[in-house]
Amino acid sequence: MARPHVMVVPYPEQGHVIPLMELSLLLVKQGIKITFVNTKENHDRIKSALPCGDGLLSQMSLVWISDGLESSEERKKPGKSSGAVLKVMPEKVEELIECINGSESERITCVLADQSIGWALDIAEKKGIRRAAFCPASAAQLVLGLSIPKLIDNGIIDKDGTPLEKQVIQLSPAMPSVSTEKLVWVCVGNKTTQRHIFQLLVNNIKSTQKTEWLLCNSAHELESAAFSMAPEIIPIGPLLSCHQLGHSVGNFWTQDLTCLKWLDQQSPNSVIYVAFGSSIKFSPSQFQELCLALELSNRPFLWVVQPEESKTEYPEGFVERVVDRGRMVGWSPQKKILSHPSVACFISHCGWNSTLESVSNGIPVLCWPYFADQFLNKSYFCDVWKVGVGLEPNGSGMITQGEITSKIQQILNDEQLKARARDFKEKVQICIGQGGMSNKNLDSFISWIKT
Ligand SMILES: *[C@@H]1O[C@H](CO)[C@@H](O)[C@H](O)[C@H]1NC(C)=O
Ligand SMILES: *[C@@H]1O[C@H](CO)[C@@H](O)[C@H](O)[C@H]1NC(C)=O
Ligand SMILES: *[C@@H]1O[C@H](CO)[C@@H](O)[C@H](O)[C@H]1NC(C)=O
Ligand SMILES: *[C@@H]1O[C@H](CO)[C@@H](O)[C@H](O)[C@H]1NC(C)=O
Ligand SMILES: *[C@@H]1O[C@H](CO)[C@@H](O)[C@H](O)[C@H]1NC(C)=O
Repeated sequence: MARPHVMVVPYPEQGHVIPLMELSLLLVKQGIKITFVNTKENHDRIKSALPCGDGLLSQMSLVWISDGLESSEERKKPGKSSGAVLKVMPEKVEELIECINGSESERITCVLADQSIGWALDIAEKKGIRRAAFCPASAAQLVLGLSIPKLIDNGIIDKDGTPLEKQVIQLSPAMPSVSTEKLVWVCVGNKTTQRHIFQLLVNNIKSTQKTEWLLCNSAHELESAAFSMAPEIIPIGPLLSCHQLGHSVGNFWTQDLTCLKWLDQQSPNSVIYVAFGSSIKFSPSQFQELCLALELSNRPFLWVVQPEESKTEYPEGFVERVVDRGRMVGWSPQKKILSHPSVACFISHCGWNSTLESVSNGIPVLCWPYFADQFLNKSYFCDVWKVGVGLEPNGSGMITQGEITSKIQQILNDEQLKARARDFKEKVQICIGQGGMSNKNLDSFISWIKT
């Protein structure tokens, strides 16, 4: 029998690549061969940001395919990148499978694809290759997708996904609630785009439902209600770095490690950590509002400002005024920061990856959701787990300095909230530890690949 060889296909975005790469490393450790498929641009970024001398990673075959786009400028145009994912990449992946298949001993025995790359699962099906889907986001998000037929039947949305009226829905009592205007497919682009995304989601769900495994980067302890609604979703997370050196893999940018030394010099439980993930851009006035809030907070802060963003103007004299207690970095070793004893709270966009990292470390969160699906995460923090508070925009959609400073005070003074956050840290450790549910699920998945 050929050695198990898994082809891994992530959606080409940072938050999707990292957890799939973590999962791949776990498989490599078990002697499974991995071919990890990136777009050319991401492949190059990952290679150049990789820590050198890495044993496990070098055992994984990192390959790239073209996304058919000319430049990163083109990639940033609305719809361009997702269009390429749909139009150009499928053919390339199919060619790659055939090419690898040329050698009997190397042939692909399983395709492990991002749940939002349904076409890769379809290709595997067509070629008679076993397949597994992986959802890097929450189970709640997936349950919402699986519930689309029910939402249509109940007259909450029409068959194009458009809500019939504005209302807050909750699929079951312990699930996060979401307003129909904040549904993933509702708050993107114009009507045409919305319908398109909705259709894509429906198709992805269909492809996913035909796989043998529907894995999710989450833990039963975090989302028990979602898992009881959809028992086919198998939690194997949180997939935090399993790495000997303790740093995460698959980063698109080089991490600035000097901030860890800086953290060492701060008092325990004092630092506000601020980071918004890889694709968020604030308006200049919102950016300035945040600067002033951090200044007014009178506390040490560590802020990840993306290189592009820092071209935005800091307020006059800001950098000089905060030099003694503020640190701005381009891209951070987030996992290490969140587990550092100096960190008191995290101002986050509530991406799922950041969500997992903060609950796993018992850090209270100030939620600043930005994109569609991040509102569900916010509801988890604020309403279900109660380990965070939300930042509310004012009537013009601005999150003001006053709002930020008062919520920082609120969260840091709430002893019960902080105790709940610490409690979660323990629960998550149990889940991923030897004999925990996520750990056992992962073991069964690995045995399946090997059979
Ligand atoms: C790869 O080869 C195997 C037999 O060696 C065959 O069953 C399978 O259909 C081939 N798959 C592709 C993608 O060509
Ligand atoms: C909707 O947005 C897409 C992508 O930005 C664009 O190509 C299209 O022309 C727009 N359609 C309408 C009707 O405005
Ligand atoms: C999670 O995402 C953040 C930013 O979005 C990044 O800094 C961090 O390295 C990621 N970590 C993991 C383990 O995925
Ligand atoms: C949280 O936000 C991320 C986007 O960063 C999304 O992919 C994920 O599905 C969200 N999780 C929930 C519970 O909605
Ligand atoms: C929201 O806050 C901004 C910045 O302070 C301010 O300019 C704007 O007038 C506020 N809007 C409302 C409706 O209060």
